[in-house]
This record gives sequence, structure tokens and C-alpha cells, in this order.
Amino acid sequence: MSEPAFLWGAATAGHQVEGNNTNADIWLLEQVPDTTFAAPSGDACDSLNRWPEDIALVAGLGLNAYRFSVEWSRIEPAEGQFSLAWLDHYARIAAACRARGIAPVLTLSHFTSPRWFAAAGGWGNDAAPAWFARFAGRVAQRMGRLVGHVVTFNEPNLPLMGRWIATPIADPARRSLDAMMATAAWACGSDRFAVWVYSRGDDLPRLLAGHRAARVAWKAVAPTALVGMSLAIPEIVGDPRAVAAYRRHAEDPFLAAARDDDFVGVQNYGRLVLDAKGVVPPSPAVERTQSRDEYHPQSLGPAVAHIAAATGRPVLVTENGIAAADDTQRARFIPAAIAALDAVRGQGVPVLGYCHWSLLDNFEWRRGYTQQFGLHAVDRRTFRRTAKPSARVYAQIVAARR
Ligand code: FCB
Repeated sequence: MSEPAFLWGAATAGHQVEGNNTNADIWLLEQVPDTTFAAPSGDACDSLNRWPEDIALVAGLGLNAYRFSVEWSRIEPAEGQFSLAWLDHYARIAAACRARGIAPVLTLSHFTSPRWFAAAGGWGNDAAPAWFARFAGRVAQRMGRLVGHVVTFNEPNLPLMGRWIATPIADPARRSLDAMMATAAWACGSDRFAVWVYSRGDDLPRLLAGHRAARVAWKAVAPTALVGMSLAIPEIVGDPRAVAAYRRHAEDPFLAAARDDDFVGVQNYGRLVLDAKGVVPPSPAVERTQSRDEYHPQSLGPAVAHIAAATGRPVLVTENGIAAADDTQRARFIPAAIAALDAVRGQGVPVLGYCHWSLLDNFEWRRGYTQQFGLHAVDRRTFRRTAKPSARVYAQIVAARR
């Protein structure tokens, strides 16, 4: 198994594209009466059945990497019961990638966990790291031969980032998240239901123990794999004390853990401007994305450089992209973001690759289907995929370099 010198990829996540992930904790949150989700995930992009089409789209763009995730709730539907059939399913996806010269970048936990895990308290349970490492080991036994890059967790620092930005006690969204999880606990006959991505972040030290244990479990089976985790890394600018405080809170514990990894996954969607009081909203004059964030593709460069310097590890850009109903904005974004990445690579910052988020317009969590991050549009009734002009722009940049 030889890996490309530089990975040019596109990214998806199981729950966002597969559809009918009914045994996952987040599926239940979408269904409870007090859900804060704009829509349930439902069939998503039907990638459960259409994954060969998705790989064909990646190949059609001339990319050499595809980031996707396995769904723990399918592979281990009840604690300790592993599904060989679902392990085979994901192994077939990885093998199909390899057959087309595409390196799979595999995420083990992209926000979702099995329902039984959430109902057992999730990362609040002392057994969680061992459960997660056992799952990782089983995936490695089936897929280790096929996968060169493994991401244990997707954005485990997100709860802390959210907590730092919003004042937790006064935040009505916080209260509605807690209420939704309490209803889910009741619905599955438990006194708890802990979904880490919507938590206050109190259990994250144990999640980091799970990260380390999963890395050890994977490497015991496949020692040459590169293993890391992906972090949400906005470019942070403004008042130096506020910047330092943000980093202490939402980055440093993760960067300390990442120093023992093979790479750090960076996921950048722009920048945060801070003053002594907190986040400074973008001025009315600036260009915005569909999600009302500042349009700022240049942030990718400084975000990557900061993480490489802070950890001494190479960076893999595991996500970078833009919510844009108007695809011409994405078509401008992609060359600008890649130019920013080129600039820091030119200064010697070690970068293993770039994966664009996302291959497809998909289920964007609590925002339902209202945000378009895809290089391809997906018809919500027929699931037909159609390449957008921005996909061509990305393909041309990659073709000129490969
Ligand atoms: C990231 C998530 C990814 C997607 C993008 C837009 O935080 O990792 O699943 O929702 O945002």
C-alpha cells in the first residue's frame, strides 16, 4: 500500500450522507419532540447504497484521496456485539477506493456514537475509552490493510469552542440542547443520554484517553498507519490576551495530546476576531457565506501554520470549505484557500494533504439540509448527483499539480 506524496481529497461523514442511521445517538435527537434539528437526516444522500457513485465522483475529479467515516452504531449495534457484515461493507468501500487509486482517509468517530453508548453516559462512563479502543481494534482488523490515514475523532474540541464563544449559563440554545438530551434519555429508558458534540465538554479528558487507546489499538494491528485526530481550528486574531485565553481553553489540551500523533487534522472554516469581551462580529460591509460567517478563505494558511508550529507534527487538512448557495462564491473560495495553503507550504510548513468539505450537499446536523457545502448538488428526491462548476475549478487545480 503506497500513499500519494500529497493527498488531494474530498470529505464526507457517514451520518451526513448514508441515510437511515437509525441506531445512532444523533438520529434519536433528530426524532424527539423537542428536537432542535431543522430536519431529520432521513435518507440523507443515500450513500449507504450509492457509495460506488460517490467514489466515481471522487475519481472523476482526479482526486487521490477520499475521507469518509465508519458508523460505530452499525458496526457495534449493541455493546460487545460486532457486525461482520457492516465491517465488510466499509472494507468494500475502502477496497473500491484503492482499486481506483484513491487513498481512504478513515474517520472512526464523526460526531455520532451508538445509542447504547450515549445511554450509558457516553464519555462520562469510565469504560468509554476501552469500548472505543475495542471498536477501533475491530475496524483495524478488517480494514487496516486498506487504510493509511486514520482520524480517531472529528473536532473533539468543538464543545469547548462553542462554550467559550457563547456564555453557557445564559445561552438558550444550551438549555434546549440539555432538554433534548433529557428527552432522549427518557425515550430509551435511561437516566442519561450523553452526545459529546452537544455536551458542555466536561467529559473531554476521557475522550482524549479514548483517542490514545484507539491509536494504540489501531497500531497494534496496522503499525505503519498514520493516526491523528481532526480539530476545529479557526484562524484566531485580535486582542492577544483573548487569543491566548481562547487557545488555552479550546485548543491546548488537544494539541498536547496530538504531539504523540502522526499528524494533526486541521478543519478550518474562516476566522474569529476576538477582543477583551469575546467574539467581534464581522462588520456589515464584509462579504458573508451562506452560514452568515465572514468569507475569509485566506484563514487556512495561518490556521495550518499555527498548528504545525504548536505541535511539531505535520498537518493534514481534513476539512476546508464554505456554505454557499451561490456556487460562484465556492469557485472563488477554493483557489484562494489553496493559495493560502501553498504560501505556508512554501515557508516549509509540513502538510500531508487537503480534503475539501464536502463531496456532496448533505445533512448539516442541526441545520438540516439548509446549507450547501457540496462540490456536487444532490437531488433530494432522486439522489441524483450533479457536479457544480466549483468542482471543475478544484479538479483543474489538482490536475495541474498531480
Ligand atoms: C464541521 C463538521 C462537518 C461539517 C462541517 C460544515 O464542523 O466536521 O461534519 O458539518 O463542519
